[in-house]
Parts: sequence; structure tokens; C-alpha cells
Amino acid sequence: MSKKIFVCRPIPVVGLEMLAAQGHQLVAHPGPLPPTRDELIKGVHGCDAILSLLSDRIDAQIMDAAGPQLKVIANFAVGFNNIDLAEASRRGIRVGNTPDVLTDATADIAVGLSLAAARLFGAGIAAVNNGGWKTWEPLGWIGQDLQGKSLGIVGMGRIGMAVAQRLHFGWNMPVLYTARDRKPEADSLLKALHVELDQLLAESDIISVHVPLNDQTRNLIGEPQFRLMKPTSVLINTARGEIIDQDALVDALSSRRIFAAGLDVCTPEPLPLDHPLHQLENCILLPHIGSATTLARNAMATRAAKNILAGLSEKPLPFPVN
Ligand code: NAP
Ligand code: GLV
Repeated sequence: MSKKIFVCRPIPVVGLEMLAAQGHQLVAHPGPLPPTRDELIKGVHGCDAILSLLSDRIDAQIMDAAGPQLKVIANFAVGFNNIDLAEASRRGIRVGNTPDVLTDATADIAVGLSLAAARLFGAGIAAVNNGGWKTWEPLGWIGQDLQGKSLGIVGMGRIGMAVAQRLHFGWNMPVLYTARDRKPEADSLLKALHVELDQLLAESDIISVHVPLNDQTRNLIGEPQFRLMKPTSVLINTARGEIIDQDALVDALSSRRIFAAGLDVCTPEPLPLDHPLHQLENCILLPHIGSATTLARNAMATRAAKNILAGLSEKPLPFPVN
């Protein structure tokens, strides 16, 4: 039987075709910008499934607006902090995400940011573009080496492990990590050490954040944590902006408490143009493009569609989070 699916934004057509092929009615929010709250409330009315993006807050109000027939919410992302999971579970609504298929793409961005931040690409590109580049500079744009430096992975999950493998085998970096449990694969393959966050922050040269955003990880890295870091350390965040206290980050970068930061995520997104982070030459910021490759995005669309098709048939989701 045909069901109504609200799609919060155009996603790769491969996923939409899978849903349409089953005769379902797709109601897609048009255009590149997220639906406003009102548009979301109106759009989900009467739908059986929601295909949401990480920028769409899906909470009790949206579930009420959809109605009691809502069966499944498929997030087009691996992170699902935008969804009130407890509320969905309480109502028996299945929630799914798109793990694994974006791991390599996101790990590549973390490695790219590590190089870009450690070697001051931001300051160099700014100088090239604004006339600040006058000559070959024996004392200018001096960055940090990566070879043999220590890497701290905050959250040794899928992406954390992929970043650690790249930097351990590529740049000979010893690895420290945090996670709720020890990771035998990291311990044996990378000879990585499971440590407390404070030790990781004090001893690592590159610190790369990969924990999900939740009540335990919001502002995990704030002023007390910046005080533990080395003045030469480089902080990378490809997870979620809210995991780092952004005001404390601005202070740490502007006072050179740490050397540099490379961010694919921030708070809010997009960051207003007058935000102080934009003024800092030791901060490089990307527009949340971790999973932005054709391969990853097509696979995410396929996984989201599979989750919806399973949920509409009242079957367990192939990629569940509740
Ligand atoms: P994952 O496999 O679930 O890894 C998360 C890791 O964090 C797990 O190892 C987990 O430890 C650890 N963790 C959770 N809570 C923790 C805490 N309080 N303290 C220390 N460690 C904790 O997830 P993933 O696939 O690697 O993705 C990670 C995050 O990256 C996503 O949630 C998303 O927010 C973000 N992301 C961003 C982009 C982008 O475009 N920039 C793309 C993809 C993902 P245990 O294993 O011991 O539970
Ligand atoms: C992107 O940020 C994701 O969580 O997939």
C-alpha cells in the first residue's frame, strides 16, 4: 500500500528512486535550504515516514504534527543528535541512520584538516589572496610537523579508527584514545593506548574529536581542557560543533594556548560571518563536508531508503539506532 514519505531536502536520486519504485508518495521539501519549523510541521502532516537531515530537529512536536501513523524516521547521517530518540522510542517509532558508508570520506577530511591546520594553510591562502605574500619567507608561516608526533583520538569508533589508521601508518604517529570501552583492534593493530581524556589532551600533538553529540559529550572540551593541551597542539573536530566550547576555543586560539584548529563543524552552522573564529588565521573551517563524496552520499541515500522501506513494512531497520 502506498505510504506518504516526507523528504526534508533533495538527496541523491538513487535513494528517492528506491522509495518511488515501491509506489510510495514522496513529498520533498524543495530547494537547498532546510525547511523552516513551520514548513516542517506542515510538511510532515499525515506522513508515515520522515527522511530527515542532521539540520532538522525532529522532536515530539514534529512527531505530533506527523500523526500517529508515523512509523519510521530515517536520518540521512550517521549522527542522530537532531532526533529525540527517547520520544521516538516511547511512541514505537523506529529510527535509523547511515553508518560505515561515510567513514572513509569523513576520516579523509579529518586528515586533510590535520595537515591544513598544522601547516597553517588558512594563513597561507589568506596571504596569497590578500597580497600579504611578498617573498619566500624564511621565518614565515612556520607550522608543526606531523611525522612521528602523537595522535589523540577522542572517541575511537568507526571514524576515529579510520583516522588513526591513516595517521599511524602514514605519518608514524603513536596513538592515544578515549572510548567508553577498550578497542582490541586499535590496541593490537595500532598499539594504541586507551587513556583518560586528561592524559590524552596533555600528551597529544594532534587531537581529533569523533564522539557523538549527547548529554555526556556536550562541551566535553572547554576551558579546563584547553589548559591541559600543549601550546603546539592542533585540535581537529569533524564530529559536532557543540562538543567543543566554542568561546573557550576562540580564547585558546587567540591567546596561542594551542597552536591551531581545523573544524568541519561548528555552532551554529553556518557560522555568522562576523564570528571571531573567522578572524583567526590559526583556525581553518570547512562547511560540514565530511561525507561529501559521490560514493558516500549515494550510499547514505541507499541506506536511508532501506531504513524507510523496512520501517514501513514494520520490519527491523537494517541500520537502527533504537
Ligand atoms: P561511532 O562508531 O559510534 O564512534 C563513536 C565513538 O565515540 C565510540 O567509539 C564511542 O565509544 C565513543 N564515545 C561515545 N561517547 C563517549 C564518551 N562520552 N567518551 C568517550 N568516548 C565516547 O560513530 P562514528 O561513525 O565514528 O561517527 C562519530 C560522529 O562523527 C557521529 O556521531 C557524527 O556526529 C560525526 N560525523 C560527522 C561527519 C561530518 O560530515 N563532519 C560525518 C560523519 C559523522 P564506545 O565504542 O566505547 O561506545
Ligand atoms: C554527518 O555529520 C553525519 O553525522 O553523518
